[in-house]
Amino acid sequence: MKTKPPIYVTMPSLPPLAEYMEILKGPWASGVLTHHGPLVQRLERELQEILGLEHLVAVTNGTVALQLAIRALGVEGEVLTTPFSWIATCSAIQWEGCQPKFVDIVPETFNIDVEKIEEAITDKTSAILAVHVFSNPCDVEAIARIAARRNLKVIFDAAHAMCVNYRGRSLLEYGDVSGTSFHATKLFNTGEGGACVATDGEVADRLRRTRFFGHDEEKQVVDVGMNGKMTEVHAALGLANLKRLEDVLKKRRAIYEAYRNGLAAVDWVSFQKIDPEAYNYSYMPVVFEDEDRLATVLQKLVGEQIHARRYFYPALNTIKAVSEYVVMPNAEALARRILCLPSYDSLSLEQIARICRIVAG
Ligand SMILES: Cc1ncc(COP(=O)(O)O)c(C=O)c1O
Repeated sequence: MKTKPPIYVTMPSLPPLAEYMEILKGPWASGVLTHHGPLVQRLERELQEILGLEHLVAVTNGTVALQLAIRALGVEGEVLTTPFSWIATCSAIQWEGCQPKFVDIVPETFNIDVEKIEEAITDKTSAILAVHVFSNPCDVEAIARIAARRNLKVIFDAAHAMCVNYRGRSLLEYGDVSGTSFHATKLFNTGEGGACVATDGEVADRLRRTRFFGHDEEKQVVDVGMNGKMTEVHAALGLANLKRLEDVLKKRRAIYEAYRNGLAAVDWVSFQKIDPEAYNYSYMPVVFEDEDRLATVLQKLVGEQIHARRYFYPALNTIKAVSEYVVMPNAEALARRILCLPSYDSLSLEQIARICRIVAG
């Protein structure tokens, strides 16, 4: 019997190689590979146009986007954040010399619980860094109200949140700065890459300087900076991928809906509470009734060479290397029971049906 090829949790969206090579002819002819070259500038312009943004600053990756945001806003001391995220949310805070202070999540939305933010604020708190988990918008209005009242900066980790519109504008335009990721696994990718989106022009200028060693436009060093520049090679991949973005969005939504239909009758799984029109469907998170059920399903999937992923697991507040343990019941319970099923453009309806049959037992 022919064995079926493995199915991975994700595969990058890629343009035809010839289209990518065509764009690369520019840097090959000019010798300009980096330093805010023409392709990075074009990618920034096109993304701003497509997403309706004023200030988008392309950088090396989503982690650096968060670090630059923390610096550009002068954040110090304690930063309130979620324990249910990828480690980069927390490590970016620590790398910038600040202390993450966890606030538990709402079990249904997977996002930071705004009802619990105020009680966590101390005189050392200077910012809230919340995550739009799997592209589900945080309660951005409540966060803005608390931040205004308590004089805090707001950064959104929008690594998952490309192409989500919330109340008439891009989700990336809420807060002081949003950091998004263009990593190979994301809805829109440049291989490695990311961007800061700022709502204030001066903050955007500071982000531009600090990604470029602190240089201003006259090449004078006027700030403490780092090297957060995106290369032309990465921007070229982004430009080629942009042409297909609409198509990728449609496919991801169709995949999500096929899973939801396929799993509708399975009563030991549940799903993230979402607004269908404010979500980009780039992940397929499934919550099991308990960890044993998850372990059984995961083992069966692995047996069939299907690689689902425990994402995010474990909850960040339980990782000794980054934090002293503070109990976060909702985040810990979710982290133990959640699995992201495979989702990528070329995943077929037959493959989804097969995965659903395995999950259903
Ligand atoms: C929630 C979240 N934040 C930050 C990041 C970091 O992004 P990057 O891998 O581009 O550095 C990721 C990456 O997967 C993420 O999922």
